[in-house]
Amino acid sequence: MKEAQSIQWFPGHMTKTKRQMEKSLKLVDAVVEIVDARIPVSSRNPILDQIIQRKPRILLLNKADMADPTQTSRWIAHYETKGLLAIGVDCRSGKGLNQLIPTVRLALKDKIASWEQKGMVGRTIRVMVVGIPNVGKSSLINRMAKGSRADVEDRPGVTRDNRWFSISKGFEMLDTPGVLWPKFEDKLVGEHLAFTGAVRDQVVDLEWLACRLIEELKTAYPKAIQERYKMQDIDLEPLQSYEILEQIGKNRGMLMSGGQINTERAAIAVLDEFRAAKLGRITLEQVRG
Ligand code: G4P
Repeated sequence: MKEAQSIQWFPGHMTKTKRQMEKSLKLVDAVVEIVDARIPVSSRNPILDQIIQRKPRILLLNKADMADPTQTSRWIAHYETKGLLAIGVDCRSGKGLNQLIPTVRLALKDKIASWEQKGMVGRTIRVMVVGIPNVGKSSLINRMAKGSRADVEDRPGVTRDNRWFSISKGFEMLDTPGVLWPKFEDKLVGEHLAFTGAVRDQVVDLEWLACRLIEELKTAYPKAIQERYKMQDIDLEPLQSYEILEQIGKNRGMLMSGGQINTERAAIAVLDEFRAAKLGRITLEQVRG
């Protein structure tokens, strides 16, 4: 969803988005919030709590194929202690998505019981998808919709704002996701969003960004750097991140005329390769406590 990435979030735009989302929320029983499993904190915007209030929600830790599986399990357990049901999924391949409907049903278990008491057995459950740009909302919707979109569009009273598709018997999803703006104020959040490519590179210095990423990887996943960039014999610990970047450029033969190391090319390589999970499955934000 390229256009979503280039949206500039101005206060007026945020207010409009919030209002639209509040309108859509009235139409659904539960919210499916998608986050990036590699950065489960930075890819959420706490404003959503205010917007959805007490509406039941489930959390999809998407891109789990690129995240550290141990960390993803820890996050899921952590959310569970907070009473929030979460699942790790890969919306690109569809892995884990068979858990979506059962998990929504579990989150709505009391509501479903009360509907049944009132004689509404098998009442259709409606959900909407929300998340910041690039987190995988369209991928989820496209994967769940398959060929079912046309059947539901033809219903009377269906407008552009409330088109549904049926993803299984008695279960419908709003076909337009709620696009949340990322929470930029915190420096670390902004950096993590930039590492994963959720915000565009034009706004930041790539060498600086790659050095910041290397700094984090050096502590949490040193082997990932050593293996990918053939630095097994080098102790990363005493090195500054810029020295590691230079070493990466050197090992890759990224030289400019005059023999100087092209650290900008090295930075682009590190960022691209991290984003493509070529450094392995990495989670940059751990559960604390
Ligand atoms: P959005 O609607 O929330 O903005 O996100 P969208 O679905 O457009 O996904 C953004 C990018 O993330 C896409 O890649 C998509 O393929 C990728 N993606 C979504 N879910 C997953 C996942 O679970 N695992 C992995 N590895 N990638 C995922 P793209 O490069 O922009 O497009 P394309 O290469 O797929 O065409």
